[in-house]
Amino acid sequence: MPLVNTTEMFKKAYEGGYAIGAFNVNNMEIVQGITEAAKEVNAPLILQVSSGARKYANHTYLMKLIEAALIETDLPIAVHLDHGDSFELCKSCIDGGFTSVMIDGSHLPFEENIALTKKVVEYAHAHGVTVEGELGRLAGVEDDINVSEEDSSYTRPEEVEEFVSRTGVDSLAIAIGTSHGAYKFSGEPKLRFDILEEVSRRLPGFPIVLHGASSVIPEYVDMINQFGGKMPGARGVPEDMLRKAASMAVCKINIDSDLRLAMTATIRKVFAETPGEFDPRKYLGPARAEIKKLVKDKLINVLGCAGKA
Ligand code: G3H
Ligand code: 13P
Ligand code: ZN
Repeated sequence: MPLVNTTEMFKKAYEGGYAIGAFNVNNMEIVQGITEAAKEVNAPLILQVSSGARKYANHTYLMKLIEAALIETDLPIAVHLDHGDSFELCKSCIDGGFTSVMIDGSHLPFEENIALTKKVVEYAHAHGVTVEGELGRLAGVEDDINVSEEDSSYTRPEEVEEFVSRTGVDSLAIAIGTSHGAYKFSGEPKLRFDILEEVSRRLPGFPIVLHGASSVIPEYVDMINQFGGKMPGARGVPEDMLRKAASMAVCKINIDSDLRLAMTATIRKVFAETPGEFDPRKYLGPARAEIKKLVKDKLINVLGCAGKA
């Protein structure tokens, strides 16, 4: 099966009350761990690439890894640009075979966000590529940009209809209190489901995207701390909240930090237990297996998309 865009998968996810997992990929082991999990449970997938990932691993290498995963799995897979920050970057990814792009103009004034997003949509749609826009701003670190809590802002529901109709975007990322990275809440986790509800009331049937959706699984944080790391206070989105979002209008749930934690915790454990180990396969192999286990659990028990390919 060739790569797909997100149109069909979001339509089915919206109607079925589940969400598609959008997992960030940076190297072969991550691509393999995610796609092997999806194959075992027959789930559709979004593999997303940040501009940092593209700089790290190279566009062609990542595309070829994903093409290999397509051959191995025969699943509906979309390859998506995560947090595109310019028309040129989106165009380069579209020209290079991506089937979906995000143009993140959330830091721009409303009119400028609309103008940039519309320009990307026109180019993308002419090439059969779907586009995710963003309104509202998440706190946290993404690529080299660090958005402080004071500079973050919730999505304003009164803006969403105009944004969607004037840009033509296919999905919309909104800010309801999640943030990027491993330190999401200093106190009790709290998400503004009232904003999500109001947005979906104003945009019936329209797919919403949730960024910053890692649960920052405590077992991995504990393992990292146990084996020489230091991550006090790391805390993510409780899985129940993700289940609730998936049952509502959220059709795409973005997960990166949990993969990083699974990988890092596993590698730290191998090194702590076998300090003489120097064969990369002996620590990258277990890291890949742990990513597979984590993703399988998310697909079945959190996102609800197992069996939906
Ligand atoms: O939203 C950000 C993702 O976790 C990607 O992170 O830009 O460091 O690759 P990155
Ligand atoms: P996490 O940092 O919570 O994994 O969020 C990832 C994300 O939103 C990628 O766009
Ligand atoms: Zn994000």
